[in-house]
Amino acid sequence: MGKREWWQDGVIYQIYPRSFMDSNGDGVGDLEGIRQRLDHLAWLGIDAVWLSPIQPSPMADFGYDVSDYCDVEPLFGSLDDFDRLQAEAGERGIRLILDWVPNHSSDRHPWFQESRSGRASPKRDWYVWRDPQSGGGPPNNWQSVFGGGAWEWDEASGQFYLHSFLKEQPDLNWRNPEVARAMHDTLRFWLDRGVGGFRIDVIHKCAKDPELRDNPPAPGDNPGYLGQEHLHDENHPDIEDLLRGIRRVLDEYDERMTVGEVYIMDPREAARYYLAGEGLHLAFNFSFLRAPWSAEAFRRETEAFEAALPSNCWPDLVLSNHDVPRHASRYDDPTLGEARSRVAAAMLLTLRGTPFLYYGEEIGMRNVAIPENRIQDPVGINIHPAVGRDGERTPMQWEPTPGAGFGSTDPWLPTAPDADVRNVALQRNDPDSLLHFYRALIELRRATPALHRGDYRSLDSVDGVFAYERSAPGSRALVALNFSDGERRVRLPAGSIAGGLRSEPRAELPEHADEEIHLAPSEAIVLVVD
Ligand code: GLC
Repeated sequence: MGKREWWQDGVIYQIYPRSFMDSNGDGVGDLEGIRQRLDHLAWLGIDAVWLSPIQPSPMADFGYDVSDYCDVEPLFGSLDDFDRLQAEAGERGIRLILDWVPNHSSDRHPWFQESRSGRASPKRDWYVWRDPQSGGGPPNNWQSVFGGGAWEWDEASGQFYLHSFLKEQPDLNWRNPEVARAMHDTLRFWLDRGVGGFRIDVIHKCAKDPELRDNPPAPGDNPGYLGQEHLHDENHPDIEDLLRGIRRVLDEYDERMTVGEVYIMDPREAARYYLAGEGLHLAFNFSFLRAPWSAEAFRRETEAFEAALPSNCWPDLVLSNHDVPRHASRYDDPTLGEARSRVAAAMLLTLRGTPFLYYGEEIGMRNVAIPENRIQDPVGINIHPAVGRDGERTPMQWEPTPGAGFGSTDPWLPTAPDADVRNVALQRNDPDSLLHFYRALIELRRATPALHRGDYRSLDSVDGVFAYERSAPGSRALVALNFSDGERRVRLPAGSIAGGLRSEPRAELPEHADEEIHLAPSEAIVLVVD
């Protein structure tokens, strides 16, 4: 691997802006709120913040329906607020990464308004318009991820338009070079302002079959979107040109990065989006995120991504985001839940790759049950309340006060019922807390080349334990993660201990790595060895 980049060595923290900190008491978080909380992020030791969309949006999908790619949504503040946030984050060594939503705009975007105005519009072909089939039905059988068919009939112009998500999110036509050019300019707008890079929304959806062929049915009897094999409505080989085009724009600037939401469960397919160093800088590995709580599963997923990535490419690690139930809930357990959060943290911050943390995971935030009359997410409304994503988007828990220090007593989503006992202020005062453990892991990672840039090697271990070695020139680390509910005795390769961490508060480090180490149920040990 050549020169190391900040986004390889660093730790990235995702903020869902609606829910981090509300500075003006309107119930929705904002950029000024994030600025006020920068000291928390600096104290934790992170290197960059990925902001879920902050651009103007009618909020049909809470920002993932953008009506202007080059401005700030008034609910969140102004471009001046953005510049101030970025400057003050920069003073703390923290870069900003923006969410960029290229597959679709809002139906209120002026481009779509123009496109919709008639078949002769110069922007007609900026979106995907088609005539009905002879019987009047939609052009093909594609389904919307968010429920129902993927085509919306436009009475005025007598054609359908494609929307892979909500009908308020019409798909842009990336096969039109004018669209590519205009979208590249939206990247330059923010790159010129100094952002560190972009998280690219549903990049695997941006290239589709040019002939718009029907998807075949998937095995099983799932209805709708899940009832199809997504052969033609995503992941078309032409994605390569699109990725190269985006990469060329990023390469006009120094030290910028992209991380793609490649929501494909095959790590080999996700790895393709790196184009061996000429495409995405990072692609999320979602099959790792979806692994069950098991040493074998995480080992398998780790090895699969390691094997799939070309040698000049760098992996990443993520367990939670704004679309999936928080991992503290997914892996919860009545007695071992808290200990498991620590094991998960140790894994995220010591495997090879750039870790992405989701706001609140550092205090072990759980998903919150949302009463049906408070559901906001269109997925919850259109498909099923139980699959809605509001539960992982609730206000950050800062303090043991009414409103949890979020800034409003009537936030857009309910605050967790446990916010009075699970919050940043209490955990800051408790050196044995999960929050301090995250911070200590990040510190150890930063201080140890083997951990932030070293190679990865799986180690054989006992049943229920995921063990591995990380090594860089002059630096070695050994990690053992006990996923089981019982005690385990492990032996690691030889080495004298130079430092390390155990997830059990105040448990002592061994003197030598190869002595028998007793791991408590759901305990992690990280050893830096000479
Ligand atoms: C991505 C986003 C999700 C959004 C969808 C449509 O999956 O992460 O929140 O709803 O794309 O833009």
